[in-house]
Order: sequence, then structure tokens, then C-alpha cells
Amino acid sequence: MKIGISGASGKLGAGVVDHLLRRGGVEVVGISRTPTEVTAPEARFGDYDQPESLAVAYDGLERLLIIPTTALAPGQRARQNIAAIDAANQAGVKHVAFMSSSGVRARPEPDVWASYFAAEQHLMRTAASWSVLRMNYYVESFADEARRALDQGSLVGLGENKVAFVSRADLAAAAAGLLADAGHDGAIYTGTGPRAWSVAERVALVSRLSGRPLDAIALTVDALRLGFSQAGLPPHVVEVALSIRQGFVDGGFDIVTGDIERLSGRPPRSMEDALVDAF
Ligand SMILES: NC(=O)c1ccc[n+]([C@@H]2O[C@H](COP(=O)([O-])OP(=O)(O)OC[C@H]3O[C@@H](n4cnc5c(N)ncnc54)[C@H](OP(=O)(O)O)[C@@H]3O)[C@@H](O)[C@H]2O)c1
Repeated sequence: MKIGISGASGKLGAGVVDHLLRRGGVEVVGISRTPTEVTAPEARFGDYDQPESLAVAYDGLERLLIIPTTALAPGQRARQNIAAIDAANQAGVKHVAFMSSSGVRARPEPDVWASYFAAEQHLMRTAASWSVLRMNYYVESFADEARRALDQGSLVGLGENKVAFVSRADLAAAAAGLLADAGHDGAIYTGTGPRAWSVAERVALVSRLSGRPLDAIALTVDALRLGFSQAGLPPHVVEVALSIRQGFVDGGFDIVTGDIERLSGRPPRSMEDALVDAF
């Protein structure tokens, strides 16, 4: 069986390739704009912004995982995701799996959930056989934010929220299980960490692990927008970043499931373990 990973040169995609190779018993094809960066035995060129390249890239695959890009220009990622799904359908890929986001819902661009929702709906309406793995917020992304916060002294957000942060490695292992095993047609999974952390709990953990003081500040949307702008983020990126913070407050990532273990065969790492070398 030939399994394709679109986005295989990225951090998540490389992890999925690695897990599939370690499982064995399948042929793994890695696809990206830079096939030389792909660690799979077969690497192909495929650019989400050049749909004609995807038809060739996905030819002969039985299963395909579509990993979205981090493109943040309004509408771009939705267009990319839909082009990839269309190309997979046209190439006759038997099962198309899509990496989506927790909390996904119909939202106008540039909300972070807009492109994931558009893609999920397109997949469900057009693919012969599909599955979705929604990812909760990366613990690695939180670590980046926490390092910046330690330098500034405060973790800044829009108010109280809980998030069950999940490591990228656990998501990669779960995605590999989803692709390698049968029986996932029409399934929606959500990859989360083992428990949700409040803001106060996060701040205390970072403070303990880093040995440095940290507090948390809740700002208004306008004040946080100004802060992101003054930090040099382009306007459209500011709006995406705000929508993520609003998603936190709305409970979009306050979800705990057993899906990492269900798909990968091993429990997700705890937040303490995942952050132990982060500071
Ligand atoms: N849940 C979270 O907290 C969180 C946080 C950050 C990101 N994410 C999401 O996680 C996913 C991937 O994360 P990651 O850490 O693996 O990101 P990454 O390391 O930046 O990987 C992105 C991948 O997309 C590929 N790519 C970029 N533009 C492309 C294009 N036009 N056509 C084809 N491939 C393209 C890149 O390969 P080439 O450049 O070689 O083409 C690379 O393989 C994305 O959906 C991202 O939005 C989630």
C-alpha cells in the first residue's frame, strides 16, 4: 500500500513519515515543494499553490494525509486545502485524511478556523472515503510563547481559559496510526494532551521549570491588537493571532480525548514532560 504525506518536509510531516517507516509494511511517499528535504524513500514535488503539480504528486497513492501549510494570507490556506482535496479525488486516492484544528467552526477569514472548516466541509462533501484528525494547540507553540513571556515578565492573553496542549510528536504518531490502519472512514478524531491547563497552572509550571518569575495579564482585544502590532506583526497576522487567543477564551482547545492513544497505541506525553527541556 502506497501512503502519501503532503507537507512531508515540515516538522509534523517528517514525524509522520518517521512513524510510518518504523511501523513498516507500507510504501511511504513524501510530498512538498522541496522534495530534497523529505526523508521518505520516495519524494515528489507538489505545490498547493500550483494545483496541476498535485495531480502528478498524488498519482497512484492509496491513502494520503494532507497537512495544511502555515500560510496566513486571508483565503490562501483554504484555497490550498481545497486544491489538494480536489487533486486527491481526481487522482483516485482511495482514502484522504486531513489534519485539522480543534475548535473548528464556520468563521470568516482571517479567523484561524476558517481554512480548516472550509477544508473539512469540502472533504466530507467530495471524497469517497475520508478521515479528519483535529489537532489541539501544540505544546511547542506554547513553549515559544512562554520563552518570549519570560523575557517580558508576563504571559499575555484575553482572559481565563483552559487548553489541553499536545506535543507534535504525539500528533505525528497518531496520524501514522490513522494512515496505516483500516477502519477510519468518516471518523473525526481530536488529538489532545492528557489534561487541560488553566492560565494560572501554565504560568506556575513555566515558572517552576525555568526558575524565573512569570505572571499572566489579561488585555482587551484592542490592547492586545496594539501589542501585536507594536511587536512588528503584519496586520493580517495580528488578526490570526487574535483569533487564536479568542479561540482559547471561547474554549476551542479545552478538550481532552483518548484519541492519541487510540490511534498511536501510546498515551500522550504530559505537559510537564514535554516542556522539561524547553527553558
Ligand atoms: N495546533 C497548533 O498549535 C499549530 C501550531 C502551528 C501550526 N499548526 C499547523 O500544523 C501544520 C503543520 O505544522 P508544522 O509544524 O509541520 O509546520 P512546518 O514545519 O512549517 O511545515 C509545513 C509544511 O508545509 C509545506 N508547504 C508549505 N507551503 C506549501 C505549498 N505551497 N505547497 C506544498 N507544501 C507546502 C512545507 O514544505 P515545503 O516548504 O518544502 O513545500 C512543510 O512540509 C499546519 O497546518 C499548521 O497550521 C498548528
